[in-house]
Amino acid sequence: MRILKNLFDKNKEWASRIKESDPDFFTKLSMQQSPEYLWIGCSDSRVPANEIVGMLPGEIFVHRNIANLVIHTDLNCLSVIQYAVEVLKVKHIIVCGHYGCGGIKAALDNREHGLIDNWLRNIKDICRYHQAEIDTIQDEKEKINLLCELNVVEQVANICHTTIVQSAWKSGQELAIHGWIYSIEDGILKDLNVCITNRDEISQIHRIK
Ligand code: CO
Repeated sequence: MRILKNLFDKNKEWASRIKESDPDFFTKLSMQQSPEYLWIGCSDSRVPANEIVGMLPGEIFVHRNIANLVIHTDLNCLSVIQYAVEVLKVKHIIVCGHYGCGGIKAALDNREHGLIDNWLRNIKDICRYHQAEIDTIQDEKEKINLLCELNVVEQVANICHTTIVQSAWKSGQELAIHGWIYSIEDGILKDLNVCITNRDEISQIHRIK
């Protein structure tokens, strides 16, 4: 099967279902997008951004990669953040990790996984920063889940350290960076309470005057 007909059938059903509830939905949406949120999440197929927070197309700008990382030199992710902040003027950036993340799991073992090991090294660094805390946990699943949380906190900081976010704050733009984690086991989101809304809340060394 070359054309994946089932997906096109599903697409037609989906579009007509939306049109039924709001006949002008797609026409309005084609004119502009004005999402208030940028979501940075994991590529995991079980963590679909819009569905989790019950949002329709047009309501949330999304970037996903393995283990929801924001790397200082990743032009892809930085470009998404720049567009979201400077053009769309989103008010919130949400980093959403999830428990049992395969990327985190892979970073915690010492096996070879190929090219992706270069990506996972960023998670190994976070593990190293928090080695003492992680070593207090015996249970493997709990260890992974703690690193899933610590990873989100680290990515929130990474976003705050970008020139994009600091420039936005400097110019008085209202912008909050949030860290959340999602449980695939029950579909529930948890706020990690690490929300940052201005440059006084980030570490001294990263503040740009
Ligand atoms: Co994941």
